[in-house]
Amino acid sequence: MTPKEIQGLKGFRDFFPEEFALRQHVFTAWRRVGARYGFAEYDGPPLESLDLYTKKSGDEIVGQLYHFVDKGGRPVALRPEMTPTFARMIASRASALPKPIRWFSIPQLFRYERPQRGRLREHFQLNMDIVGETDPLADAEIIAAAIDALRELGLDHTHIVARISDRQLLSAILNANEIPAAEHAIVFGALDKLEKEGPEAIRVLLQKAGLDSETSTRLLSLESASVEDLRAQYSEVEGVRVAADRVSTVISYLEAGGFGEYVRFDGSLVRGLAYYTGTVFEIWERSGKLRAVCGGGRYDDLLGALGGVHLPALGFGMGDVVLCELLKDLDLVPTEARRVEDYLICVTEAERAPALELARALRERGRRVTYDLRFRAVGKQLKAANQAGAARAIILGPDELARGVASVRDMTSGEVSERTLESLRKGDHH
Ligand code: HAM
Repeated sequence: MTPKEIQGLKGFRDFFPEEFALRQHVFTAWRRVGARYGFAEYDGPPLESLDLYTKKSGDEIVGQLYHFVDKGGRPVALRPEMTPTFARMIASRASALPKPIRWFSIPQLFRYERPQRGRLREHFQLNMDIVGETDPLADAEIIAAAIDALRELGLDHTHIVARISDRQLLSAILNANEIPAAEHAIVFGALDKLEKEGPEAIRVLLQKAGLDSETSTRLLSLESASVEDLRAQYSEVEGVRVAADRVSTVISYLEAGGFGEYVRFDGSLVRGLAYYTGTVFEIWERSGKLRAVCGGGRYDDLLGALGGVHLPALGFGMGDVVLCELLKDLDLVPTEARRVEDYLICVTEAERAPALELARALRERGRRVTYDLRFRAVGKQLKAANQAGAARAIILGPDELARGVASVRDMTSGEVSERTLESLRKGDHH
């Protein structure tokens, strides 16, 4: 094979400096929000035992695993999500960690999906999770953090909306509609596609699952029903009442915290992953033309199932792919910060040593400094300074050097002034 034929894998990204700068912009905003909510950062291995995922994540994600048998004969998989690793890590130290535990991470994840806009075979995901708290205030806190992670990047309630529901509410409604428990998973799976495929396609799926048209209509109307509608409609059903109260409480805490315009109850929301047990939520771009930018919820049984530690937990994952598409669409990508501040120019070879000494002094003060790596004519060096986007060129010539000064050219205005080397080294302005 000639080198020309070796290409990157489909669905995997190269981060050229411009793309890397955007990625850094997103990660630093996420880290600021993580810190502001009092969360500690952690990480785990990108490769895990295959059975960490086959146990609890659900069929969809298991079907997308990158997995193989390693040289020691162990079935392993690249992590498709962080939650099982998080649960494994927490379970291994559960008794030593003060509760509630608040941790965040920005792992790279791998899923063998069909690449399309907003969906790739690798992505980065902000994960924030809380362990050890059942109070709905924890649910509101995690949703608020997710919204703030997007607000920090310039998005507001006109761009995004968090749809919130509760798995137990939907289960209670299915029970009240006499849908046998064995069929809940199929109905959940169908409703999970509602946002993407539209009501007519889902009606067909529900009827294929054996639901009559009246029941199908009732379930499809969940998308526009308010919590009060459902309370009235199922006033006799205790499970609906309890879950409806919980969702209302979460939403009222979010309203109290100033997030009212960002949230909406949506009883049709399911979430694809199998382990959720209570609150579920997703954040979408308002027009719905992209997939969800964030998804999460409560998974009170997962730590028990994976590590034998019975602790309630909840959290979310926010993907960088959809988010960056959104930032580009809305023109919220910052222009690149100036990479070079000072470009040092030598007129003759005799200035090289003093230029190196000056570069060191400037860099020690934190200035971004570069210079020509070959000995070229001053005109070429000035051109290079311009191309590098330098803010100023510091020109060292034999006459100036003899007087202990340099000419400083402002690359924007073209103005030239003389400065003593001493003041340049120290950063004095005169
Ligand atoms: P998820 O819904 O599978 O949840 O993923 C969360 C977000 O990651 C999605 O909303 C999407 O933005 C992004 N994402 C997922 N797959 C891809 C892909 N193939 N390409 C690009 N972006 C993608 C989870 O992973 C849960 N573990 C989140 C969680 C944490 N729940 C509780 N704690």
